Amino acid sequence: MSNKRLEIIKILKDSEGKAVSGEELGNRLGISRTMVWKYIRSLAKDGYEIESSPKIGYTLKSAPDRLYPDTIRMGLRSSLIGQHIHYFDELRSTNITAKELAHDADDGTIVVAEVQKGGRGRLGREWLSPRGGIWMSVILKPTISLAHASRLTLVAGIAISKAMRKLGVDARIKWPNDILINGKKVCGILTEVNAEMEQVDYIVVGIGINANVDMDEFSDDVRGIATTLLSELGEPIDRVSFIQDVLLELEQEYIRFRTQPFSGILDEWTSLSDTIGRQVTVTTPSKMIEGKAVGMTEDGALVVEDADGKREYVMAGLCIYTRAK
Ligand code: BTN
Repeated sequence: MSNKRLEIIKILKDSEGKAVSGEELGNRLGISRTMVWKYIRSLAKDGYEIESSPKIGYTLKSAPDRLYPDTIRMGLRSSLIGQHIHYFDELRSTNITAKELAHDADDGTIVVAEVQKGGRGRLGREWLSPRGGIWMSVILKPTISLAHASRLTLVAGIAISKAMRKLGVDARIKWPNDILINGKKVCGILTEVNAEMEQVDYIVVGIGINANVDMDEFSDDVRGIATTLLSELGEPIDRVSFIQDVLLELEQEYIRFRTQPFSGILDEWTSLSDTIGRQVTVTTPSKMIEGKAVGMTEDGALVVEDADGKREYVMAGLCIYTRAK
């Protein structure tokens, strides 16, 4: 979006529903009233509802519910994550596109889409990604070894839960990377790593948030285990301001990850965890582990203790709760 269009939106937003005359807009932007009118018309084409009354001026009635990069950047409080935004109305998967862009991208670049046609979940599953959700991938380039890459999933889980909790919902993390509200999944994270000789080249953290998604989009099976922010809050969220919050939280956790001992992140993850203290069954490609989830290691492995006190450390797998806490 051109700077002039952005400035117009900003001025109209700041005037909080009061009309701003074409003359004032023109003066502030250093352009003619005819140019102002042209920009207003092009904004209207993109879904901005702008009332125009002769002699009084322009009033912003509503902004389109779109994750346009310029709209996200306006009011973005992070200074690394989200500085570069690749936006798509529709694509196959933001993770696929992020991996294509990653080599030449800066640390913190994001790919965001309104709709994914081939959204991908963990364990090769599909990820339903209709309009109204937040489907995005963050490209990270920390200088870390491959062994520590899975820690970024925990970092993302903490950041997203914190941003959701600010909306007033009790978001908790189910190991390894689901965010739940009232026991139902509202967000999934798919982390993909590219490494050379044990050294991470880039990490793509794919984040799928069922934000303003209608529960009717889900099949009966999915409806039993999934939820949306819309359904939990009873009203749609402002996706732009929420994404800005997620990016800020992510940046703060990412900085903590790079500058402080990992134990602090581990403690925070544990306090937000829905899994620790529960009786679980974890299925991995090679075995099934049953017991109580008692903790998490520095590498992101879940510690499962059986009735005899024998401990197993699980790096990845499908975790099912077998009993309430
Ligand atoms: C899971 O199975 O829980 C992980 C789901 C991850 C979905 C997100 S949506 C944005 C990004 N692009 C994808 O194709 N997948 C991730």
